[in-house]
Amino acid sequence: MVLTAIDSWVVRMDRNECAALLPGVGDVLRADADGWHRYPDSSASVLTEMLAAHTRLHPDAMVVGAGSAELLARVLRVACAGGGEVVFADPSFEAYAMLARQAGAEPVAVPTTAEGVTDVEGMLAAVTPATRVMIVCNPHNPTGSVIRRPELEYLLAEVGSHVMVVLDEAYRELTFDPDVPDGIELARSRSGVVVTRTFSKVHGLAGLRVGYLAAPPPLAEVLRHAAVPYQISAPAQAAAMASLRQEAALAARCAWIAGERERMRAALREHGFQTPHSHGNFVWIPLRHTAEAFAQHCVARGFVIRSYPGAGVRVSLGTPAENTDFVQIAAQARRLTRPDRRVHQQDAKSA
Ligand SMILES: Cc1ncc(COP(=O)(O)O)c(C=O)c1O
Repeated sequence: MVLTAIDSWVVRMDRNECAALLPGVGDVLRADADGWHRYPDSSASVLTEMLAAHTRLHPDAMVVGAGSAELLARVLRVACAGGGEVVFADPSFEAYAMLARQAGAEPVAVPTTAEGVTDVEGMLAAVTPATRVMIVCNPHNPTGSVIRRPELEYLLAEVGSHVMVVLDEAYRELTFDPDVPDGIELARSRSGVVVTRTFSKVHGLAGLRVGYLAAPPPLAEVLRHAAVPYQISAPAQAAAMASLRQEAALAARCAWIAGERERMRAALREHGFQTPHSHGNFVWIPLRHTAEAFAQHCVARGFVIRSYPGAGVRVSLGTPAENTDFVQIAAQARRLTRPDRRVHQQDAKSA
């Protein structure tokens, strides 16, 4: 395995990866290796058919890409040709701003609510005649919150028809809340809605780079034509198809993740952290001004987590033992995360 220097001596809880491939996927990759001197199927046609069956969409509505980040880049390139603005929540997946700029558009970041939920009214208020795309991450990275059906339907009804809405559902498989709508179902009857999903998270294929997108067929066709030839490698296609066949193992993994994130949340709350319920394979700790110091405390003990200075930290689930160790390390950092008395005294003086 190719490890970076950092991976070989720390526990990486900063990238929302899954601990392993699903059963049998590694065997398929090893068995297929003799064919890798050939180019892959450029249109990933078999995988596309499988995904269409899996999502009950016509294959014409399906686009496969080299991860959902690549698909997002493609959507933004197509939708923002000639400039424009891209609206998304802040904090959220950090690539949104970079991908918007790469597409020649202006990123417009809308702060989440104090509870870390996408601010639907704020997002709508940020729309201008120049807005080309609004990205809605549901479940939300990094806070693990969700937008439920009434709010999402309201957002789709109110956003102008000149705006393409991209529902980024990288963590869709990990929400069990019946009030969180399936974006693909929602998008079925709406022309300006696109849904992205990925094999990087619950399928554990982050290193192989494969994701998919559902879009109205005319738009899907444009997006397919905007692809770089042979972009989805043969191993990525083979692994994704093998992984899709592992339905029972995937369901068991998702249920395990849901249980483990609750265990971790409860343990963190016992130590006084205000960790909210999460719908992803990570937990959020809203530490505000102490986020960076907390993250440094964890790194110094070999646990890399993602810090959002001034807001909080996101901790990806690891193995049960790693999660338990992380909670111990977090508990030791409790003194760092108590409200800063000096700040409060200054606030009191200036009030
Ligand atoms: C919300 C969200 N969207 C997209 C991605 C990118 O995933 P992929 O590996 O499919 O490019 C991530 C990765 O962390 C993510 O959190």
